[in-house]
Amino acid sequence: MKKFPFEMNMDITADQAAFFKTLAEKSDSGTLRGDYASADAQYVVAQNWAAYTPEQHALWRKLYQRQARLVPGRACDIFIDSLAGLDAAERIPQFDRISETLYKATRWQLAAVPGLVPDQTFFEHLAKRRFPVTVWLREPHEFDYIVEPDVFHDFFGHVPLLFNPVFADHLQEYGKGGLKALSLDGLKFLARLYWYTVEFGLIESPQGLRVYGAGILSSGGEIEHCMKSAQPHRIRFDVERVMRTLYKIDSYQETYFVIRDFHQLFDDTAPDFTPIYQRLKTLEALPADSLLPGEVNLSTT
Ligand SMILES: [Fe+2]
Repeated sequence: MKKFPFEMNMDITADQAAFFKTLAEKSDSGTLRGDYASADAQYVVAQNWAAYTPEQHALWRKLYQRQARLVPGRACDIFIDSLAGLDAAERIPQFDRISETLYKATRWQLAAVPGLVPDQTFFEHLAKRRFPVTVWLREPHEFDYIVEPDVFHDFFGHVPLLFNPVFADHLQEYGKGGLKALSLDGLKFLARLYWYTVEFGLIESPQGLRVYGAGILSSGGEIEHCMKSAQPHRIRFDVERVMRTLYKIDSYQETYFVIRDFHQLFDDTAPDFTPIYQRLKTLEALPADSLLPGEVNLSTT
């Protein structure tokens, strides 16, 4: 093992070196955006809250206000209720304080990270009921769109749902499943599950469909698009169907999968995925906009 040029506080493996290389290549600037130098072996850093500038807090406030105006009537009640209790409207939140409250609610905590982390590390955090939250905030010119997840996406989009016990338990199981998938060559299937649920999932409610996916909840445009647009499919959640479906990372989703409630998400993803992975390896992946015979497009109201 050799030290990576970033001089992280750890020795890195060839896999980790490849992770950094891919990350840097994907970034606009061709360099790593996060400061990985002080990360420990689990890629955890200090949040260093005092270092955020007044301008960054002001940008957070603008992002928060824009999204907070959009969530009523679109986000699920659990998200809206939890968000209200986080007291995060004015400033970038202090993760330690939120972790204390969160731990009391569902025994989850936040882990401050420099940005994206390798799959294995991500799954290990989830399996230990720690949600990795990026410490840096986007720049003003990225107000409407950002490629990599920043603190606004990670916190605003993901943290409120962690206060729901069933969803929180599901996410821990997902982490355990991820560690297992690494040895079964099932990662791409499991990534689709995360994408279409935790990031872009819709849920039924007595008032119609509502959003619980963080990618939608933290997006100024998609939160409206997913509810109002006639273009995307909105079809019932089915684990195997989801795992077989490709997704778009640079446009609004062409299909949203709808769960009845979080118990369905927990129960349907509880079984061992090994036979599903085996089956899916023999099948063609489905395009993101497919609608199969028998599938019904659900109305949002
Ligand atoms: Fe996310």
